[in-house]
Amino acid sequence: MIAIACDHGGFALKEEIKSWLTEKGIEFEDFGCNSTASVDYADFALPAAEAVASGKCEKGILICGTGIGISMAANKVRGIRAACCSDCFSAEMTRLHNDANILCMGGRVVGAGLALKMIDLFLNTEFEGGRHATRIAKIADIEKAQYEK
Ligand code: RB5
Repeated sequence: MIAIACDHGGFALKEEIKSWLTEKGIEFEDFGCNSTASVDYADFALPAAEAVASGKCEKGILICGTGIGISMAANKVRGIRAACCSDCFSAEMTRLHNDANILCMGGRVVGAGLALKMIDLFLNTEFEGGRHATRIAKIADIEKAQYEK
């Protein structure tokens, strides 16, 4: 199950992504928003990121105008490694090296063709582990220290 969410700046791209996921037979849960009316991206990043952090959804796709605000919001949820990408190399590398569990994109930055290619790479690339597991464990250590302050 893939969690998907957006703000108004990502709504049009989210609808294209949903059609593609449906065509591919990939199940998703849509956490909104549901129109181009102005909203605040954090309100939609939170439930989608929580669904990924809890394990209810295995990965997430979040879209705002730039992909930046919604990635910042998602990364505040414990256990989330959200990567804002606008190229295929980064979308693949963030799975291989960062074990990213959420891909963020800008609906005003990337076209649907590029977005779908990035999603394909993101969903189908396994984490390499090894030295990269040590590195992401250190990110979790930072998170733990911040929560325990
Ligand atoms: C909304 O206008 C825009 O600021 C938002 O979609 C996003 O780009 C923020 O990072």
